Amino acid sequence: MTSLTQHLSKRVGQAFEANGLPAELGATRVSDRPDLAQFQCNGAMAAAKIARRAPRDIAADIVEALSGEPDIAELSIAGPGFINLSLSGAFVAGWIDGAAGDDRLGVPLSGEGKTVVVDYGGPNVAKPMHVGHLRASIIGEAIKRLFRFSGYRTIGDVHLGDWGLPMGMLISEIEALHPDLPYFDPAATSFPEGSPVSLADLERLYPQAAAACKQDPVRLTKAREATAALQAGNPGYRALWRHFIAVSVSAMKEDFSALNVDFDLWKGESDVDALIAPMVGGLEAKGLAEESEGALIVPVAREDDNKEVPPLILQKSDGSANYATTDLATIVDRMAALAPDLMLYVVDQRQALHFEQVFRAAWKTGLAPDSTGLEFIGFGTMNGPDGRPFKTREGGVMRLGLLIGQAVDKARERLSQEGIGQEYGQEEREEIARKVGLAALKFADLQSHRLSNYVFDIDRFTSFEGKTGPYLLYAAVRIKSVLRRAGEQGLEEGPLLPPEGADLPLALLLGEFATVAGNALERRAPNELCDYAYQLCQSFSRFYSDCHILGETDPARQAGWLRLAGVTLRTLETVLDLLGIEVPARM
Ligand code: ARG
Repeated sequence: MTSLTQHLSKRVGQAFEANGLPAELGATRVSDRPDLAQFQCNGAMAAAKIARRAPRDIAADIVEALSGEPDIAELSIAGPGFINLSLSGAFVAGWIDGAAGDDRLGVPLSGEGKTVVVDYGGPNVAKPMHVGHLRASIIGEAIKRLFRFSGYRTIGDVHLGDWGLPMGMLISEIEALHPDLPYFDPAATSFPEGSPVSLADLERLYPQAAAACKQDPVRLTKAREATAALQAGNPGYRALWRHFIAVSVSAMKEDFSALNVDFDLWKGESDVDALIAPMVGGLEAKGLAEESEGALIVPVAREDDNKEVPPLILQKSDGSANYATTDLATIVDRMAALAPDLMLYVVDQRQALHFEQVFRAAWKTGLAPDSTGLEFIGFGTMNGPDGRPFKTREGGVMRLGLLIGQAVDKARERLSQEGIGQEYGQEEREEIARKVGLAALKFADLQSHRLSNYVFDIDRFTSFEGKTGPYLLYAAVRIKSVLRRAGEQGLEEGPLLPPEGADLPLALLLGEFATVAGNALERRAPNELCDYAYQLCQSFSRFYSDCHILGETDPARQAGWLRLAGVTLRTLETVLDLLGIEVPARM
């Protein structure tokens, strides 16, 4: 089974074929005019050009070919040749029965046998995670889950920023402050176990170091030298740097686990260090990298570029690797270890040019075969009320941990205002607040197209009304409670009777899940899943107020409605899970 529109597209396609026309013309979609018909096919218009006949005549042939079929109840032609169709109630009911017995709810395993790497999160060592990383994590996690659900072998990689100039800045800052530490003694061969710096130290030292380098060219030179020495293997620097990583990674893991985001690989830029020299040497030997002002570059401009794409800098004149070098070497690493069909990079849209350069260089040099997809999945910024990237009240970067805390606090407040879940024990109430707070943040982030910017507004995000995470959780929990009460009354679900009231639009909407999931996957657009989840909740709410499930006197009808409610809940929970949103058992 797939979706209702896919079923119809096939059926109508067969009718086109029987008339000597391409099957693709049968593409059928949900009607723009649900008052006239459930579905529509506009293929007769295109067919008219091929067959040199009037579209209405072609439409009439298609209608003729399909009439009398048991799955299609209504057929008509509108305007110049639009074909309107409605499914029979028995067919729709049968579809819901099929979905009830299908743990994939009709969604095909379209990615079976294919491997995709999702590069997302991307936090940096020694810097607190901020709202940009929040977006990368939330969107990346949803995209990863969607690919996984569609049958792809999926590998999420956090790709830590742990190898560039910021590391050299920190090392030289610490050296300036504490020159006596053993890390700076060229004669030292062993180093203490414990970290000389805490996370708080790093978060204080990094901005200090960055400011010093900005003001003082001497400090900047020192930081550059330290970066090059670190990359060249200076043992003291490496030992100190390993502490930066350990301290930062444990804090990051806390943030990610609070977000319910998890990675298969915790690799970083530094992990590909050993691959850089052979990669650079190889490209040089093949004449694919050129010298330019002491640096090595790979030209990637194309004739048809309408904006200039500067060459990728493979190696700086001081011999050090940069962001582009490590990204290129990471492609080499992933090709060797995983041979993915596709690599997706979920990163701030402002890095689009960087990735364009890296992808072009990878294909041009053959480091990635042309058949491997390299794709940048950009996103816009989360802004403050002033329309600029979100900051704390003091004007600093907003730390992820604090932001999550704020959302959970607000959710707790809302729940108590609305009197939701107040009868449960302290621990359960806290768990509910955590899930509602996270759902608020995540849904707000995912619901508009990833490329659009949005304004952080915790009051709106945590509202139980409107298109919000809390509204969806509340709706899901309400279905759970209906089903629980039905169970307590000893009621069981059964085959759906042909729907004719508010159960019909709900059933039709459920019948589109495979199409929605397929489109969201294809367009890398979790917001389409958000729209669908919201529509499902609204449609269920209309169904529930029109069709009194628990009070229904016809047991067969009641059993069918229970099944419909069950499929709704499972679909909604599946969609929320794809979005990385957890649903409480009750509220
Ligand atoms: N660490 C980078 C940043 O904070 C993001 C990394 C994105 N991934 C990559 N392969 N470059 O901007």
